[in-house]
Amino acid sequence: MNERRRKPLFVKIRNYNSDEEKDNRFELIQLCLQLGVDGVTLPGSHIAAEPRLAPGRSNLSGKAVFGKTLQNVQDVYRATGGRLPIKALGGVFTARDAFEAIAAGASAVELLTGLVYEGWSVAQQINRGLLELMSSHGIANVVELRGRSTLELERAPTTRAASAVAH
Ligand SMILES: Cc1cc2nc3c(=O)[nH]c(=O)nc-3n(C[C@H](O)[C@H](O)[C@H](O)COP(=O)(O)O)c2cc1C
Repeated sequence: MNERRRKPLFVKIRNYNSDEEKDNRFELIQLCLQLGVDGVTLPGSHIAAEPRLAPGRSNLSGKAVFGKTLQNVQDVYRATGGRLPIKALGGVFTARDAFEAIAAGASAVELLTGLVYEGWSVAQQINRGLLELMSSHGIANVVELRGRSTLELERAPTTRAASAVAH
């Protein structure tokens, strides 16, 4: 397939709800790395019980899943050492959301519910807002922003330990 395809290939990896599912997803992600897949799409959306629906459950998306999206992105960024491009998906509505998703390790963001509620212009608002946010943080481009919150979290315990000694 790699020889025949002309467009970048992103594999959408389903969200996980147990350690067993997580192991399965991370095996898939390692395979993606080995097989030269261009990137993975990580949705925070997940199956949730909803008695008002005929099947009794459905796929939850939108703002409510954004925390899960950030966590997934951060987990996969760490596990792959940033070697695999990640598209964050689930609950992205604003430039701040996109900024946080990229800082957690995403290379790009995708949105669906946000488009339904805000209309097509949301893409332009996100792009403009992202430039403003990066500029206010002294960040020149998204490559520099990518994974920054992961790095800062990893450094944080050392900083705290150092300040505890100083006091
Ligand atoms: C109406 C609707 C249809 C969807 N259809 C699909 C689909 O066919 N295949 C798929 O992988 N995800 C599908 N999704 C899930 C979205 O791709 C995405 O994972 C989810 O909506 C989370 O992103 P969001 O919070 O920006 O909407 C659908 C979501 C919605 C709301």
